[in-house]
Amino acid sequence: MRIAIILPTYNERENIKKMIPLLEKKIFPQIKNHQMDILVVDDKSPDQTAEQVRSFMKKWKNIKLLEGDKKGLGFAYVRGMKHAIEDMKVDAVMEFDADFQHDPRDIPRLIKALDKGADHVIGSRYIKGGSIPKEWRIERKFLSIFGNLFTRFIWLNFNIHDMTSGFKLTKTSFIKKVDLDNLFSNNFAYKMHILHDVIKAKAKVVEVPIKFLERENGKSKISKKDQFESFYVVTRLGIYDRKRFVKFLIVGGTGFLIQILTQEITINVGFALFIAGFISILISYFFPHSDINSLSQGVGAGFGAEAAILSNFMFNNFWTFSDTNKIKDSSHFLIKLFKFNSTSFASIVIQSLAVWLGVKVFGDNLNILGYIIPIRILIVIPTIIFLVIPLNYIIYNKIIWKTHRLKKISN
Ligand code: GDD
Ligand code: MN
Repeated sequence: MRIAIILPTYNERENIKKMIPLLEKKIFPQIKNHQMDILVVDDKSPDQTAEQVRSFMKKWKNIKLLEGDKKGLGFAYVRGMKHAIEDMKVDAVMEFDADFQHDPRDIPRLIKALDKGADHVIGSRYIKGGSIPKEWRIERKFLSIFGNLFTRFIWLNFNIHDMTSGFKLTKTSFIKKVDLDNLFSNNFAYKMHILHDVIKAKAKVVEVPIKFLERENGKSKISKKDQFESFYVVTRLGIYDRKRFVKFLIVGGTGFLIQILTQEITINVGFALFIAGFISILISYFFPHSDINSLSQGVGAGFGAEAAILSNFMFNNFWTFSDTNKIKDSSHFLIKLFKFNSTSFASIVIQSLAVWLGVKVFGDNLNILGYIIPIRILIVIPTIIFLVIPLNYIIYNKIIWKTHRLKKISN
């Protein structure tokens, strides 16, 4: 294959001075099965980065330089990618920072992943073996980690761990499926759009761990605005694919209604009380004076929680995630349901206990502006939001709908 390493530069003369010889002399000779090119996209850097590149072009013939006006990192990459596809006719492009925060020694490993069948390789900081600089200030660490979590949630994609990495290798056949002229960002968030479209085009995405290093020379060009723009771009793309998102909301909403209905019915017809009677006998050794009223409401909440679990499982299995079709757990539906239910057992217990204790402490009802609202409902809602949803997220993510990932490629 012919592979172009796209190096966007803005005031990186000192870095590019070391980077190009290192790539040419040390890194490319390790990559024997591909033809490697360097494409520098410089935006008229005042520090004469372009001059430095031109002097290297005399020595090495596989270097190209594109010069233009500074209109943002995304814009620079779009120019670079178009040139790589149309003029250089390469088979894959690598996005690579010129400032040594991406370690050039990682390049062969990313290429190896491509050789093994990946279409889009991500140099990932958030899988085992990857890391972000410990020198980063807490807010940058937080933004990076939170930004990733946010993206995973909005896109309902829990398979990729580093969605904001700038170190990537993509087959041009997939870049061609991205509408490069209409990206939602010309700056750092361009990469969210490319990633999104590449995933949508069903590229096989593989993460390879990288250590994101600290900058030694020059300054970072990323701004607060860029970081926040990513949230906007991610959300906009998420709404674009709202089909799944809306499904997810409908499933959650239906589950919630079923939960409250089941809870209220079991309590009001006395079924919860009936079960609570048995339970109070069973636990009478530890709780000799258990209050049957609060206990029965706790039991009702437990039934409600179970009903919601069943509803969510059915809907998600047959509807929301039915198109995932890479369900790792190919076991029988009933086994999956049993697993799901047993892993959700904790959330039933949590909700029952919360209601039981809540009613014991606060009583049956609360009067809010003349409306009598059962305490159990006021307790169940925050319990779901703050305990059950996070817990279910972990379960969905780690156990039930976990999808295949290629084995991590190490050295
Ligand atoms: N041509 C051009 N035009 N190059 C640019 C521009 C621009 O407007 N802005 C930045 N660059 C170049 C820089 O010269 C550098 O080679 C590379 O793009 C990355 O820019 P940095 O300014 O070093 O970004 P960063 O280190 O803060 O951000 C890194 O981490 C982010 C995730 O945390 C990058 O790897 C990002 O791609 C990544 O999203
Ligand atoms: Mn950098």
